[in-house]
Amino acid sequence: MMQGNKPAATILVVDDTPENLSLMSDLLRDTYRVKVATGGEKALRIARAAEPPDLILLDVMMPGMDGYEVCRQLKADRSTAAIPVIFLTARSDPEDERKGLDLGAVDYITKPISPALVMARVRNHLSLKSHTDFLKDKAVWLEREVRNRTRDISRMKEVTIVAMATLAETRDNETGNHIRRTQNYVKALAEDLAPLPAFSKELTPSNIDLLFKSAPLHDIGKVGIPDAILLKPGRLTAEEFTIMKTHAALGAEAIREAETMLDSAEPSFLRYAREIAEYHHEKWDGSGYPHGLAGEEIPLSGRLMALADVYDALISKRCYKPAWTHEQAVDMIREGRGTHFDPRIVDVFLGMSERFRDIATRFRDDVAQGTVDA
Ligand code: C2E
Ligand code: SIN
Ligand code: SIN
Ligand code: FE
Ligand code: FE
Repeated sequence: MMQGNKPAATILVVDDTPENLSLMSDLLRDTYRVKVATGGEKALRIARAAEPPDLILLDVMMPGMDGYEVCRQLKADRSTAAIPVIFLTARSDPEDERKGLDLGAVDYITKPISPALVMARVRNHLSLKSHTDFLKDKAVWLEREVRNRTRDISRMKEVTIVAMATLAETRDNETGNHIRRTQNYVKALAEDLAPLPAFSKELTPSNIDLLFKSAPLHDIGKVGIPDAILLKPGRLTAEEFTIMKTHAALGAEAIREAETMLDSAEPSFLRYAREIAEYHHEKWDGSGYPHGLAGEEIPLSGRLMALADVYDALISKRCYKPAWTHEQAVDMIREGRGTHFDPRIVDVFLGMSERFRDIATRFRDDVAQGTVDA
């Protein structure tokens, strides 16, 4: 028989007395598919077969394996543990009932049975079981869904940064390689600084990864600078440079705006991007812009970016300057120790500047690169 579109539930009746089996079958078979077993072993075989019953009506006193033992084995086996078991028995001693329920049975019906009561209990337990199954499926589905979404979101964050950074670069940069170089310099510097006690707390592997991903956004604010200034072949006038300098605040403002839309109490994945945009032109001695911060007032992300950005600007050909050699760039950074740059960062840089040279070679401007995940 069918209820709506759902196939009828299957009930397994277990009893050693043939009359009881036929009594129960007659009662149930108009509404359910009925399977019968005259003993414990056979009941277990049916329960473990390909199409297990949805509910089991189980006699307690049977020769050989009794109902309690059948129930114990059903509950011990993962494949059958979830099938609801109702004990059907002539015994009505509260102690026996407790024993059956302790074994994991959902209900206890005493014989002689009342047909209406049996039907009501069976219907209720089937309904309970189908709701439980639904919730279990739902929980599994939700868990999978959350996993997928989490992966999507983290992918989306990366894509957002890459898209914004690419936009920022296309206006004053022939290839996207300035992005790849600067993010790799920042990562290399951060990795070598991380063991120092002053930096180890902030420079965790996951923060270094976030710095790596955020560095490409340092000049996003250049999007707001007119071409006449940004692409000017020669030196900027004082007035033009004043406008040029607004790129730091412009970039920070755009990212801050995006952050407020995220509406999150925690520091967002854009925090480093905003800091880097805002503070990459601050100088250790307080003579930089936009705020004129000095020393450790400048967030570490900005101090790292300042060195990486200047190194790359120096070794690159710009519309306003030729490319310098690696050695000239290193000399210039050494001269900026304690004035332009954090002296500790310069010291670490001087010990590993060959890695900067390698990165510059690997991502030099005449070699197009396919991806940003260097
Ligand atoms: P950028 O080209 O990415 O340069 C970043 C930073 O590298 C500069 O920040 C500066 O600290 C350093 N740098 C780059 N080239 C030189 C150089 O030849 N000598 C020295 N001593 N340092 C150098 P800064 O000065 O705040 O400039 C910010 C941005 O303003 C530059 O980014 C560039 O886009 C633009 N800019 C600066 N000066 C000129 C210029 O004379 N002409 C043009 N067209 N643009 C300029
Ligand atoms: C470039 O000319 O390589 C781009 C300048 C920059 O993004 O700092
Ligand atoms: C600067 O040092 O301010 C930028 C580079 C230049 O003016 O040539
Ligand atoms: Fe800049
Ligand atoms: Fe730059």
